[in-house]
Amino acid sequence: MPGTVEDVDVPSASDVLRRCRELVRPALVDAVGRLHPWTGEMAAYALGWSDTAGTPEPGGSEGKGVRQALAVLGAEAVGADAACAVPGAVAVELVHTFSLLHDDVMDADALRRRRPAVWKAYGTGPAVLAGDALLARAVTGLAGTPGDHAAAAVRRLCDALNDLVAGQAEDLRFEHRPWDGPGAVGPEEYRSMAEGKTGALLGCALALGAVLGGAPEPTVAALDRAGRHLGLAFQAVDDILGIWGDPATTGKPVHADLHRGKKTHPVLAALAGGSRAARELGTLLASSRPTDAAAERVASLVEEAGGRAATRGEARRHLDAARDALRATPLTRTAARELDVLFAGLTDRVM
Ligand code: IPE
Ligand code: MG
Ligand code: MG
Repeated sequence: MPGTVEDVDVPSASDVLRRCRELVRPALVDAVGRLHPWTGEMAAYALGWSDTAGTPEPGGSEGKGVRQALAVLGAEAVGADAACAVPGAVAVELVHTFSLLHDDVMDADALRRRRPAVWKAYGTGPAVLAGDALLARAVTGLAGTPGDHAAAAVRRLCDALNDLVAGQAEDLRFEHRPWDGPGAVGPEEYRSMAEGKTGALLGCALALGAVLGGAPEPTVAALDRAGRHLGLAFQAVDDILGIWGDPATTGKPVHADLHRGKKTHPVLAALAGGSRAARELGTLLASSRPTDAAAERVASLVEEAGGRAATRGEARRHLDAARDALRATPLTRTAARELDVLFAGLTDRVM
């Protein structure tokens, strides 16, 4: 309840994100500074720090920094000093940036954070290389973490990377699967794909903070589970924004998923409904990949068939599961409340 004494000192989700970005920034700048100047320039552009001429762009198109914040809060939640999470925070932010660079190539998306995607601005080959550079730097930096936890941290990051790549593989393969019939993508397959491509790194970010903070394995596992559920909620919201979002707000193209035949939650849920709108949607999708005008029609049929509402429900269920995983784990009070605020803020992006 707003205004109660309980909540007076609970910051907003954007306050939490800002605090964590400020804490991590010097180490992130240092990591990018260690790249080859060319890949470093592309990385700085991708991170929203500079334009394509390498000129600094203060207040440019910086991302929210969700993953670095989760790493910091993961450490604080287990009673450790936030500083011990910084190498993990840098690693997950670099891995995230790498994955976006390559994802925009794979998805042929020309826009990211309101600007040309790196492959559009610099070319596909350079963008792939910049992604590789970021990945290599992420692992190198984490492996060099002082103290006793570097090996466990690198292992967790590599496990998440394997899941992320598997999720991306499923996402791409699903483009060629039919919308209905025996070859259609089922709800469990969708979930496994989304957990891999998005949930694994969010879970890893939270877990890494706890690993670097010296937490016991059950706590680390619970935080990983919470982050994975958050990822599923986050992806459900991302799927909604890909159909009904405003590109001026999201900074990404709208309807791109529909054009590419991506198996997103709202469309799959709409088709599963079996209503008249669902049948018309099925016929439309089976005939060809939608053009611009047809995509509008697809979007309204998906809504009419209940796909948007079902995906909101999916996001809420995973948000609840993420919160439950946090509540079932002994965590420090302030960090647990900040995580709760952050989880809700990320899921409420469109709701
Ligand atoms: C991206 O998934 C997942 C990774 C980058 C690993 P999407 O392709 O659904 O995300 P957006 O919509 O391009 O950000
Ligand atoms: Mg994409
Ligand atoms: Mg993708």
